[in-house]
Amino acid sequence: MGYLITLEGGEGAGKTSILKRLVPFLEQLGHPVVSTREPGGIEISEQIRKVILDQNNMKMDARTEALLYAAARRQHLVEKVIPALEAGKVVLCDRYIDSSLAYQGHARGLGIPEILSINKFAIDKYMPDLTLYFDIQPEVGLSRIESDGNREVNRLDVESIKFHKAVWEGYQMLVQQYPERIQVIDADNEIDAVVQAAQEAVLAFLEKNKEKGDR
Ligand code: TYD
Repeated sequence: MGYLITLEGGEGAGKTSILKRLVPFLEQLGHPVVSTREPGGIEISEQIRKVILDQNNMKMDARTEALLYAAARRQHLVEKVIPALEAGKVVLCDRYIDSSLAYQGHARGLGIPEILSINKFAIDKYMPDLTLYFDIQPEVGLSRIESDGNREVNRLDVESIKFHKAVWEGYQMLVQQYPERIQVIDADNEIDAVVQAAQEAVLAFLEKNKEKGDR
């Protein structure tokens, strides 16, 4: 079995650029890597992504939103993540279950335990082996994406600052809840420094598992 490593954080934390730089780093260490993202990553889940993030769907109910994310997650897991893990690869995934717990569970007010429960149904035993949480204050993250003209703006980006603060709070709760799995990385820094911190966290995780002779 390979490893499932997820990248998490609020808007503008820089996950996507960091993920791109983690791929060659892991490959140089001799690990075959698959990089992917949620919601999406494969055809059916990309279709679900369009429905979820469409700015015309402002009337979408919060539970519908949560179920659609979980549905997209399930299909992506089955078609892409599980086969890669079974082939011994390191899967780097831009967002996963913690996004649902922070955004739908806490920020939308549906409850972290409730969202955990529907997601357990979707993911079964596939909790992440390691999660890198890129921590940034919502004001800073949002100002970064505002100045990035190339970025698509979606239905969740246009939520109020109050919503994004609640997302941040949700992530803090998850950091408390899963201290072993979630590594916090300060993302309010130069990209090179953030990438280096992310590489160190991944390396420490791989070393620890090698020592344990886990896999
Ligand atoms: P995306 O453009 O991929 O955002 P980012 O670059 O910030 O990752 O859009 C994904 C949006 O969906 C983002 O606002 C976070 C949100 N989201 C949830 O609310 N719940 C989830 O389970 C996932 C995976 C994403």
